[in-house]
Amino acid sequence: MSKIIVDQHRQHGQISKYIYGQFAEHLGRCIYEGLWVGPESDIPNVNGIRTDVVEALKDIRIPVLRWPGGCFADTYHWQDGIGPRDKRKKIVNTNWGGVVENNHFGTHEFFELCRQLGTEAYINGNVGSGTVQEMSDWVEYMTFNGVSPMADLRAANGHEEPWKVKFFGVGNESWGCGGNMRPEYYSDLYRQYQTFIHNYDGKNPIYKIASGPNIDDYNWMDVLMKNAAPYMDGISLHHYALASKWENKRPALSFPENEWFSLIKSAQKMDELITKHSTIMDKYDPDKRVGLIVDEWGSWLDVEPGTNPGFLYQQNTMRDAMVAAVTLHIFQKHADRVHMANIAQMVNVLQSMILTDGAKMIETPTYDVFKMFVDHQDAVALDTFDQLADTTSASVSKTDDGYFVSLCNYGLTASDSVTLEFDQSVGKVTGQILVGQKMDQHNDFDSPNEVQIVDFNDYDLAEQTVTANVPPMSVVTLKINGKH
Ligand code: AHR
Repeated sequence: MSKIIVDQHRQHGQISKYIYGQFAEHLGRCIYEGLWVGPESDIPNVNGIRTDVVEALKDIRIPVLRWPGGCFADTYHWQDGIGPRDKRKKIVNTNWGGVVENNHFGTHEFFELCRQLGTEAYINGNVGSGTVQEMSDWVEYMTFNGVSPMADLRAANGHEEPWKVKFFGVGNESWGCGGNMRPEYYSDLYRQYQTFIHNYDGKNPIYKIASGPNIDDYNWMDVLMKNAAPYMDGISLHHYALASKWENKRPALSFPENEWFSLIKSAQKMDELITKHSTIMDKYDPDKRVGLIVDEWGSWLDVEPGTNPGFLYQQNTMRDAMVAAVTLHIFQKHADRVHMANIAQMVNVLQSMILTDGAKMIETPTYDVFKMFVDHQDAVALDTFDQLADTTSASVSKTDDGYFVSLCNYGLTASDSVTLEFDQSVGKVTGQILVGQKMDQHNDFDSPNEVQIVDFNDYDLAEQTVTANVPPMSVVTLKINGKH
């Protein structure tokens, strides 16, 4: 049994819609096949970008998309990806399977994808193997509206108007694949590189993100904040949920009961990480101006048998839906510090929204959770008094019409009766549920609707309370109108 007491006046900041951000890397079949098929493809597309995937993604209202990596970002030389596609350089993707990268998806194609999705751009620059000049030129190419070598080159390549870059990452995992640096060295490089990310139009300053710590590397956070906080708007954090150890990732399907719980527990570590990293950030930034940007998170499991180990293609089950719900709840609890998060990755890689197989496409249970949670985007986070059952996780936000509540029961056998007590009369309730009959229930290309969102009516409404019966292995959302 769980009880949640909601006081509409206990507000703790806006839930940034950017918490619902996505990440797409040049890795496996995320960009190529998953998003980009090229204008000549038989798969229906608009300007080379597949229509089925874009249409599905539009329904989860993606606020921001991070690109081109990941580890790939620190090997990416953006000039390889502009100009006529048939003349673009073919390179080797050293991080991900050693495959040929033909650079057919570059800057212009990325902004076309953002246009089709109606999403903001988060570009990750190359510090590990790129120069300051190269990074600075890329920003000029993308954003400068005037006469300059880079703006002229952009126009010559068919795009007269500049694009808007809302977020820019200065390197990725600079402690690892981004250069194996020490924090003292990287913080100096960060200060130098970010100096040349110019705000050309004066109206839309680019939000600059430093490459932050790996999981619980609190020293990295401390050194970066001490040395460079005034020069950054955000600092990244990466944490992936594992069912066992890094060296022994475990299958995405047919897993034992203990791995249901170990994966969810690993995801819940996010709460401790954000709390501890925020405490360090508070020392240097007590007003919480600098955002914690969790730009890689999600479950990392074994690749599907028979697939390229470098492509990180994994199936996605009800267990992943639980990981998504509990993690999004954690971000919402820390709405004052977490300004953005980007699940890894959008299509065909790690904890994806969408899986494709040639012309076929399916939506995953993780996609469903993102779809169910859209009303949390930009709503006001409420600090509730909770007495929750051990396997229940919840979040309540205030919307224009009343309240939006999301509940997750990740227990395997028992339903939880969740009572919400409001400080005002409440009216109409609209509910949705995603529920599994078994732990690894998932959608597949032959059975694409095994997991689906359906209406939820198993609740009672009485004046100021709503009591919902939340089944095991489920995510429930309730829109509750407040009476004035
Ligand atoms: O998301 C896959 C990889 O995980 C990213 O490229 C890297 O940043 C992280 O280690």
